[in-house]
Amino acid sequence: MSAYLEIVWDVPMPEGADKLLQRTADACAHAEGITLPVYAQLRVTDDEAIRAINRDYRGIDRATDVLSFPSTDVKPSKTLGRCEKKLLRERDETGRCFLGDIIISLPRAQEQAAEYGHSLEREFAYLTAHALFHLMGYDHMNDDDKERMRAMEEKALNKAGIGRVTDDELIALAKEAMQFSYSPYSHFKVGAALLAKDGRVFQGCNIENASYGVSNCAERTALFKAVSEGVREFTAIAIATEKSMAWPCGICRQALNEFAPDLRVIVACGDERAEAPLYELLPHSFGPNSGTLEVLGKE
Ligand code: THU
Repeated sequence: MSAYLEIVWDVPMPEGADKLLQRTADACAHAEGITLPVYAQLRVTDDEAIRAINRDYRGIDRATDVLSFPSTDVKPSKTLGRCEKKLLRERDETGRCFLGDIIISLPRAQEQAAEYGHSLEREFAYLTAHALFHLMGYDHMNDDDKERMRAMEEKALNKAGIGRVTDDELIALAKEAMQFSYSPYSHFKVGAALLAKDGRVFQGCNIENASYGVSNCAERTALFKAVSEGVREFTAIAIATEKSMAWPCGICRQALNEFAPDLRVIVACGDERAEAPLYELLPHSFGPNSGTLEVLGKE
């Protein structure tokens, strides 16, 4: 391992968190191209303690999810991977170089995991990776820097085996949403889990109505939830049904096509599953650009 975390748990450690965070640290250093042995100190604590640290060291009197205090000053244009020698100043007696301190609030991590619809494991790993990249000089003050930092985090998380939600997880979330189906008229339960580009998952179920035409499909429930929260980029949707496999209806295909014509559509019923890209389910589609003068060949 080229990167090591000295972790202090002020709160009970969730099972397996220790190993996961070590793996994440190693993946971050590797992604950055660090060759020296490095370490950081991580303290996992509660909201009160992180608030006190935030107040005392940054003058901000409120709790936050993660704080990082780099040992070495580097600019986002020249992150530690490109000026590794600077780290030699931080070398301890065992030869390891100190990257800095990280504080994470466990309650905040738990809240955010629930909010983003992913595991505490992923949130923990994400916060650790985020902090470690800060320690290595990354920042998110402008869009370019932010994008670069995000790409590094994603690379590291994938390497650490905690990448994006897997198809199995997405299907499980669609099945979970299916339980809330309100379908007293058709008795056909449908659940959907829509995966956004940023890793968030939006769940939805079909919601019927005594005036049948008012009913909404699971896919659109999920889509509308996402769009109404400002999320418009999606990579996959899983659709779970109870009685028989069902591909999205025409209206849902059209609704999804508006935002993600390349969306991976996964349908699942029990252990059975199938997948197709949306553009195959809606060929020759009418999309956001179809009516523009450009597409019509007019100036
Ligand atoms: N349904 C969906 O939720 N998604 C589809 O793509 C197909 C149909 C729902 C609508 C209605 O509540 C029930 O399934 C039977 O049509």
